[in-house]
Amino acid sequence: MSHAEDHAGTRRDFLYYATAGAGTVATGAAVWTLVDQMNPSADVQALSSIFVDVSGVATGTQLTVKWRGKPVFIRRRTQEEIDAARAVPLTDLVDPMAENANRPTGTEATDENRSLDEAGEWLVMIGVCTHLGCVPLGDGAGDFGGWFCPCHGSHYDTSGRIRKGPAPRNLDVPVAAFTDETTLKLG
Ligand code: FES
Repeated sequence: MSHAEDHAGTRRDFLYYATAGAGTVATGAAVWTLVDQMNPSADVQALSSIFVDVSGVATGTQLTVKWRGKPVFIRRRTQEEIDAARAVPLTDLVDPMAENANRPTGTEATDENRSLDEAGEWLVMIGVCTHLGCVPLGDGAGDFGGWFCPCHGSHYDTSGRIRKGPAPRNLDVPVAAFTDETTLKLG
């Protein structure tokens, strides 16, 4: 029995479903919540952490899931995207901070400090423009090959860092970690 089935019965209310981002979502990418038996408020716990199966995310695509009411972009980057992000001097950045909840406040916005794994394959970010909250377009959109917010024209690079336009900050990296090779925990 899979983990998802395990929770499907009594906890059906807490299941989350991936929203389609780049067409990689329809099969294979199940998202579900883990309910901590120790927590007296199961629905609060369900909102605080979710586990995402990323085994179906191909290199060069993005899975978008909903977490705490917001879209979260889970991108499996190509080597070209990683290299581009890592070649950017810090002096070129609008926001020099990593904006990564997994790192101490004040951490510099190198790509190494924003990507989830050392090699930089996985980039996980809250998919909400830091200007006024629109959801940026992905898949290489914008002048810097990352994300583009069409609301007022903010361009983010392949590390999700703001490079041009009115947005003041890099896209936020939420608390996230792999619990095994293909399972990502958010929260
Ligand atoms: S909300 Fe994204 S540029 Fe204004």
